[in-house]
Amino acid sequence: MGLYRDVSIVGAGMTRFHNKLHVDKTGRELFVEATLDAVDSVDNGFRFRDAGALFVGNFSSDVFEGQGHTAAVMADWLGINPIPAYRIEDACASSGAALNLGAITIASGMADVVIVGGVEKMTRLTTDQVTDALALAADSSFETSVGFTFPSIYAAIASAYFKKYDATWDQLAAVTIKNHKNCVLNPKAQFQTDIMTTAKKMGEKSGRTFSDEMEFLRSNLNPVIASPLRLFDCCPVSDGAAAVILAADDVARKYTDTPVKIIGMGQASDTIALHSRSDFTTLRAAVKASEDAYKMAGVTPKTIQVADVHDCFTIAEIVATEDLGFFPKGQGGKAAEEGRTTLNGELPINPDGGLKAKGHPVGATGVAMAYEMFKQLRGHAEQHQVKGAEVSLIHNVGAAGASVAVQIYRRG
Ligand code: COA
Repeated sequence: MGLYRDVSIVGAGMTRFHNKLHVDKTGRELFVEATLDAVDSVDNGFRFRDAGALFVGNFSSDVFEGQGHTAAVMADWLGINPIPAYRIEDACASSGAALNLGAITIASGMADVVIVGGVEKMTRLTTDQVTDALALAADSSFETSVGFTFPSIYAAIASAYFKKYDATWDQLAAVTIKNHKNCVLNPKAQFQTDIMTTAKKMGEKSGRTFSDEMEFLRSNLNPVIASPLRLFDCCPVSDGAAAVILAADDVARKYTDTPVKIIGMGQASDTIALHSRSDFTTLRAAVKASEDAYKMAGVTPKTIQVADVHDCFTIAEIVATEDLGFFPKGQGGKAAEEGRTTLNGELPINPDGGLKAKGHPVGATGVAMAYEMFKQLRGHAEQHQVKGAEVSLIHNVGAAGASVAVQIYRRG
């Protein structure tokens, strides 16, 4: 199993992810902004007429913005008609899936160069409406109809994990603290404060002081959303877009001397309903997608030097680091608590702040992960650079793992 032609990323761009900054912009404006940023990043210049296809990862511009037919809208607003333009919808893994399909299109010979983007404009709706819209990605017949929306679905995963592995909420808090430390170093991130700074700010408003992060995170200023998950265990609601330019290896050097090669990829599905699964503490689709990606790349989890994983809730990061083979089952939480996944740890996870702190405009997240790895592997991640990183992985999850996309990259 492999690609008939090698494929590389030659350019990458994104908007800042945010809940307030983009309130006056539409999804299409965000998409254009991110794509122009990607075009600007191409070292030797890029002309839109070089693109042979456009892939748009988007979960639900229909519900969030009242606008369907998203791929055609984006092609139109980029001014690149006529072009094969495809919208890919795989819930929060929409643009991870779009990345895989973009690479397959080049590998098949249908195009030498494609643009792959992702976008979501979520904040036009209230949080309650967003929760309902996101719940469309879960099982409406038996689960969401009785209130089992995403915070509670991941709360059930956390409870099962705690019980099976005798784990504690403190391990989740370690993920929160780490990802909020990292987001401060990433200007594209929604949050720009670490937990102590937040604790100080929120404490001042209520006349309280906190001696450390854990005291704040255990306080009622970090309210329970769905037990055991609290506010700071959840990713926020965000607007944003990201885009990459993929090129066949034989033309990639025309665009840059430092392409980032896609050396492995995988995609897998699983039951839409959580109640159909025998074990909540692992996402079978993540295991399968990553096994396929490792096999294609000819590497093992030990080869990976930095990874962006889908931490829509803190428990999701812990489960991901186990499903991807970075740590044995039941050890991911301990690894986070021991600092092994920090920016300077043995395997930095989510150096950009992750979904938790960078933000999660759902359809944009997969491509934003590829953007991060384009920067990391070229040594351009500035303050959140993982020193010497040459091989990296992204893991993009739709719903509670009913769709998972994985890609592995190597510096070209
Ligand atoms: N982490 C930390 N702080 C958060 C936050 C989060 N996840 N979400 C909101 N906040 C902060 C906001 O910045 C805001 O602070 P400010 O007033 O200083 O700007 C404050 O909390 C209130 O924000 P608001 O948007 O009113 O929060 P909310 O109560 O409406 O929403 C959640 C909070 C957790 C319910 C919402 O962020 C959410 O639903 N997250 C999950 C999204 C999701 O499920 N995505 C798909 C995953 S599969």
